[in-house]
Amino acid sequence: MISSLLLVALGLVSQTSAACTRDTLQAAANEYVAAQTTGTPSLLSLTPSFSYLENNVSLPVTSGILSQPITIDLNRSLIDTTQCATFTELSCASNKVPYVIHTRMLFSGDGGMITAVQSVVAKEGDWAFDAKAQLKWSAQEIWGPIPSAKQDTYAVIKAAGDAYLDSWGNSSIKVPYGAPCARLEGGSYTGSVGGTTNTCKMPQFPGTLYAGNRKYVVDVDLGAVDIFDDFPFIDKARPNGTSSSNLIRVEGGLIRYIHEVTVCEEKNCGR
Ligand SMILES: *[C@@H]1O[C@H](CO)[C@@H](O)[C@H](O)[C@H]1NC(C)=O
Ligand SMILES: *[C@@H]1O[C@H](CO)[C@@H](O)[C@H](O)[C@H]1NC(C)=O
Ligand SMILES: *[C@@H]1O[C@H](CO)[C@@H](O)[C@H](O)[C@H]1NC(C)=O
Ligand SMILES: *[C@@H]1O[C@H](CO)[C@@H](O)[C@H](O)[C@H]1NC(C)=O
Repeated sequence: MISSLLLVALGLVSQTSAACTRDTLQAAANEYVAAQTTGTPSLLSLTPSFSYLENNVSLPVTSGILSQPITIDLNRSLIDTTQCATFTELSCASNKVPYVIHTRMLFSGDGGMITAVQSVVAKEGDWAFDAKAQLKWSAQEIWGPIPSAKQDTYAVIKAAGDAYLDSWGNSSIKVPYGAPCARLEGGSYTGSVGGTTNTCKMPQFPGTLYAGNRKYVVDVDLGAVDIFDDFPFIDKARPNGTSSSNLIRVEGGLIRYIHEVTVCEEKNCGR
């Protein structure tokens, strides 16, 4: 009799369980959008001991943004069946208090229950924040599924995102920028509709900064990765790092779009 351990070693058993399919994760991401719309976390299949993090701070979900009803204008989700995780970007320009929210959810491998909800929540005063402009530019971008023959691997997509973040502290690192490439930093857009050039290149920041505490969600079908990180330097009040998230679309191995959301202690990070 062949042991299950041997089957795993031979790669004959899928690493992810039946619950962790694209369909079930997409359904959960849709439930998250519905839960945030009404401010009802109980709409989600949360494990009793699930963790809730906002801008890298652990807090009870009852005092979090997920417990407030928010008007959502645009949502985009990434589905990561390898990690059993989802990522959702919410553009909330029409809400009374405008927000842009990036949320990562982790699921138990077996039951498809949510074990962690982690959000970067940006509002007025955060880096280059302008929810109306963020919505306007994001809505014009094309983030549809990549035809399977043209899809990049999980590793290529993730590496493109890492190279971009690594380049902030080391301009010698080659980043696979596409042409065109456009970055939406808060509500500030480097590109233009129909642009053809790479406007994403980031100059090296002073010093040797490294954006650590990275947390990923990768969607091979969408050619996209989101990376949560601690962004040092940018926020004068938090020189060791502030919560930031970069949603990156990769086409043919090259970066096409970047959406950055960065939280500031002082207005516009004191800059
Ligand atoms: C979220 O996005 C989906 C797909 O574009 C859309 O069908 C749905 O209406 C959106 N939900 C909200 C609350 O905007
Ligand atoms: C910067 O990146 C280059 C290219 O990858 C590498 O050779 C070099 O060691 C890096 N410098 C530092 C200080 O890490
Ligand atoms: C930043 O990190 C350094 C080195 O660990 C520490 O001495 C300093 O107090 C930290 N600064 C803040 C504002 O947390
Ligand atoms: C975020 O949380 C992690 C884990 O608690 C901690 O190690 C890290 O220093 C925090 N980052 C910031 C910028 O506070």
